[in-house]
Amino acid sequence: MCERHALVFTFVVVAAFIDCTARLAPDFIHPCNSTESSCLIKATQDAIPDFSKGLPDLGVPSLDPFIIDELPIQLPGVKVTFLDGKVTGLRKCQVLNVEAYLEKNIFILEVRCNITIKGKYTAVGRLLLFPINGEGDSKIKIVNSIIKMNIKTRYFKDADGRDHFGIKSYRYTFDYGDRVHYSINNLFKGNPELSNTVLQFLNENWRVVTEEFGQPVVDYAMNVTIETARKFFDAIPYDELLYVPIPNY
Ligand SMILES: *[C@@H]1O[C@H](CO)[C@@H](O)[C@H](O)[C@H]1NC(C)=O
Ligand SMILES: *[C@@H]1O[C@H](CO)[C@@H](O)[C@H](O)[C@H]1NC(C)=O
Ligand SMILES: *[C@@H]1O[C@H](CO)[C@@H](O)[C@H](O)[C@H]1NC(C)=O
Repeated sequence: MCERHALVFTFVVVAAFIDCTARLAPDFIHPCNSTESSCLIKATQDAIPDFSKGLPDLGVPSLDPFIIDELPIQLPGVKVTFLDGKVTGLRKCQVLNVEAYLEKNIFILEVRCNITIKGKYTAVGRLLLFPINGEGDSKIKIVNSIIKMNIKTRYFKDADGRDHFGIKSYRYTFDYGDRVHYSINNLFKGNPELSNTVLQFLNENWRVVTEEFGQPVVDYAMNVTIETARKFFDAIPYDELLYVPIPNY
């Protein structure tokens, strides 16, 4: 009996010890030995598919699919509300460039993505010359959008004294890319002809339309992405992400 207890005790201690020193970073993180762009691009590309699924153990939510419960957008003349939305496609983003300047606290990321946003919507107000009171399903497909992020980083120590990346601020540009397809039904309740005509107008003028209407959606999406990255950096120490000595800070 006693022997068995001792054995169990040893096992628990060993397990606890292993747990303390175990790597926190998931296996899909392949740290670079330098900040050479080619390595950072590959490491980022390697990480995106699994990272975007979310890491529940680390409190990092999913980005693909990414759920939008409710997003109100006030446009000139029209109030649009997105409901039960689902954003997909981020896991297949193609990494075009990554640059890290550790001393200067600058991190640059450029990706090309196809993004699909599906959900219900309501729209109330005036669109073009017509009073609008629409409610229905919508699907927006963005083909080959280019997202460039310029992130100002900082370093900080956690409660155990381990260094982490932090995000101080960020700027971005979002180029809608090759094409945005809108499929929206029932824009004008009870008037399918007008609904189709306006939808056709939106698609023919997709670039102007998207630039007008897209900004609040993109701002929201970028904020979510940055908040997700912040949670990840809070969870995983610097020395498990990059095998380059951290600058003095
Ligand atoms: C970093 O260096 C280690 C040891 O030399 C090597 O095993 C590893 O593959 C290198 N990592 C990368 C991403 O090049
Ligand atoms: C996006 O979709 C287009 C058309 O289907 C395809 O040619 C392109 O390679 C895709 N881009 C990415 C980044 O997956
Ligand atoms: C960004 O997201 C965070 C957390 O979800 C939220 O608290 C904050 O208000 C958002 N900021 C903006 C500008 O949307």
